[in-house]
Amino acid sequence: MLFEEYKYFHYQFPEPQYLGAKHTHLSWINRFIPKGISTVFDAFSGSQSVSFLFKQLGFKTITNDFLNFNNQIGKALIENKSFNLDDEDLITLFQKSPDKNDFTLIENTFTNVFFEREEAVFLDNFRANIPLLDNEYKQALAFAVINRSMTRKITMGHFGHTQALIYANDPERIRRNRSLIRPIKDLFLDLLPSYNNAIFDNSQDNQSFNDNILDLLPKLSNIDLVYFDPPYCDSHADYQGFYHLLETYTEYWKDKEFVNGTKRYEPQRYSGFDKKRNVISSFEKLFELSSEIHHWLISYNNRSYPEINDFKKLIMKYKDVTIETKTYQNGRGGKGSVAGSQEILFVCKPRKAHFISTQKQEQLA
Ligand SMILES: C[S@@+](CC[C@H](N)C(=O)[O-])C[C@H]1O[C@@H](n2cnc3c(N)ncnc32)[C@H](O)[C@@H]1O
Repeated sequence: MLFEEYKYFHYQFPEPQYLGAKHTHLSWINRFIPKGISTVFDAFSGSQSVSFLFKQLGFKTITNDFLNFNNQIGKALIENKSFNLDDEDLITLFQKSPDKNDFTLIENTFTNVFFEREEAVFLDNFRANIPLLDNEYKQALAFAVINRSMTRKITMGHFGHTQALIYANDPERIRRNRSLIRPIKDLFLDLLPSYNNAIFDNSQDNQSFNDNILDLLPKLSNIDLVYFDPPYCDSHADYQGFYHLLETYTEYWKDKEFVNGTKRYEPQRYSGFDKKRNVISSFEKLFELSSEIHHWLISYNNRSYPEINDFKKLIMKYKDVTIETKTYQNGRGGKGSVAGSQEILFVCKPRKAHFISTQKQEQLA
């Protein structure tokens, strides 16, 4: 029985570098997954770390993130049962693209921002070749690994600053992190085996979506457990500010402007969960739309808005809830995870009916 439960645990999730990723909390979260469930939904899935745990546990796993570069990881590692990138695919990806002249967005926009020209041209050429791979899972895998290579190359692993080339020319920084000066192609080839080895079939038809959660929920049914890991509003919630380059690379926008020193795309996608002015009404809608799902797990942080007791009241309209906490020992892990801040998990179950005896009712009358 125990063996059955852990039979996919020799597959390893390729370590992400993503604000608020939960890969370091998985065994803690696992303790609160209820027994006897079969279909689970990771509603704000980011790096897909929690979906990967769900897949390992043998559940039918549905995953969603409104940013497409995260959806590509979901397609590659959660939905995909068997396709990996082999030597022939690498020849396709690294060949001189026949459509090279139509693919110049990264060179034109990000040369001398995050990359030297040569690296930007390499990225455009690689991007032009991705659609030549012969199925969507191979394509998704190519996106997942090249995007991860970019976060490895760029200092601090995000694109919300303009220090990349300054740090990549600083001998002390390079000594500490050689990835800053390594060609993206080499980083890609180093990372690929860990992704190829993470692909498995858990005998379920898992699905990855790329939608705003409030639009997607009404279209889903028969879910036993939903996991919510929304941006921690008021405490690092700017996913599009941090990862705009990966979304631009994946979408290869034709209809956006690129603004400020980092060349972030504009207009951004609408979240509803990252700004104080609309977060409460978004949660109200989220919980109403999820009321039929029996079990909810919600990750939260004691520095987020709304504060914990107000947030609990929003949940208690629909569920009975207990609050579990885990204190950070250090500041690693991003998203409000500074030393002393707490990772919180709201464990929510169907409300127990509260019966009042006839005698009590008579006394109250
Ligand atoms: C805290 S992160 C999730 C981290 C994830 N659990 C992990 O382990 O990597 C929150 C995610 O919510 C996504 N997001 C924000 N607003 C959204 C919305 N309205 N619908 C769907 N996803 C959204 C962001 O793109 C971000 O990836």
